Amino acid sequence: MPLGLTDLQALERDWVMPTYARQPVEFVRGEGCRLWDADGNEYLDFLAGISVAQIGHCHPALVEAIREQAGRLMHVSNLYYTEPAMRLAQRLAESSLGGKVFFCNSGAEASECAIKLARRHRRGGEVVVVTDGFHGRTYGALSATPQETKQEPFAPLVPGFKVVHRDDAAGLSDAVGEQTAAVLIEPIQGESGIHPIADDVLVAAREACDRHGALLIFDEVQCGMGRTGTLWAYEQTPARPDVMTVAKGLGGGLPIGACITSPEYADTFQKGDHGSTFAGGPVPCAAAHAVLDVVHDEAFLGEVREKGERLQAGLHDLPVTNVRGRGLMCAFDIDGAPELSTRLLIEQRLVVNATGPVTIRLEPPLTVSLEEIDDAVGRVGALL
Ligand SMILES: Cc1ncc(COP(=O)(O)O)c(C=O)c1O
Repeated sequence: MPLGLTDLQALERDWVMPTYARQPVEFVRGEGCRLWDADGNEYLDFLAGISVAQIGHCHPALVEAIREQAGRLMHVSNLYYTEPAMRLAQRLAESSLGGKVFFCNSGAEASECAIKLARRHRRGGEVVVVTDGFHGRTYGALSATPQETKQEPFAPLVPGFKVVHRDDAAGLSDAVGEQTAAVLIEPIQGESGIHPIADDVLVAAREACDRHGALLIFDEVQCGMGRTGTLWAYEQTPARPDVMTVAKGLGGGLPIGACITSPEYADTFQKGDHGSTFAGGPVPCAAAHAVLDVVHDEAFLGEVREKGERLQAGLHDLPVTNVRGRGLMCAFDIDGAPELSTRLLIEQRLVVNATGPVTIRLEPPLTVSLEEIDDAVGRVGALL
């Protein structure tokens, strides 16, 4: 007999550290933009595991790539060569900044790598970050995440981070100097509720980094991998970073992250400077190849932009405010967002997420259809 939801909740209560506020649903199966719970109810997934299931749940090519690689070789460590990792590094670098890649297993680890790289570039240097940014929960990444509630219980943090308001181009420019190792910024903030950083702020960051020899690091963990309708979010901004972090959608559901440099900073790390047992394993790398095969395609990315417009247009017709986003990285504001997201899940079987008290975020698989977009908008409308 499989366990029921109440059994799972009892197990969680007794044995799982209470860090998550889970919704009262057990998912057992996924296909495309659909999920099924243990009672056989079908849901429309407009969260994609927080921007992870980039090509939908259980895409046949992704499943096959994982199955094939898992049946041949799963792990040997980075003491040896495996082809999926070397080829993936080439693909990621050639499609973005053109330098070199360090693989890791999550977004937070990608942030750690980028922060260490910055300090390796300028020893003891400061890292400038912006308000409401989110870079992960490990100590370096948390120290770069200037949010009182997340940081305060864990003091003392890693020193050497300076915070500037995310809209303050002049302030950012002033904050960068000879003492600065890097500016670390999400070109479109995700966890804060989908906030594109203004072009003038990104340009100010680029120019200040150029003036003082600091690294401009873009965190594309959430906004990368085609989410915004270009393979990388920076392609739609006036600034090109020196270093970029990716994770989430890269593996389409398997844990993998990467830190990518421009050629100039490709050899900043030396042997022994950084490492990870699981990083760049053959199975997650095979998964990433399968995701890139679908996503890195101009026609596909054009469709993502069109679908994003359709979603935003639909949301604009609803009694909500501040509809915003880029591509299929969208949000709107409404009072009581957490309660609304739970009601959408339970009553409308629509999976979305509240990033805060007034914001609902929508990040469906990039393979979502126009009909599914209209369906999702209709389900939100039905509750409002
Ligand atoms: C922009 C950004 N950076 C880093 C992270 C951390 O990623 P992970 O949860 O895989 O450690 C996240 C996660 O939400 C993110 O959105």
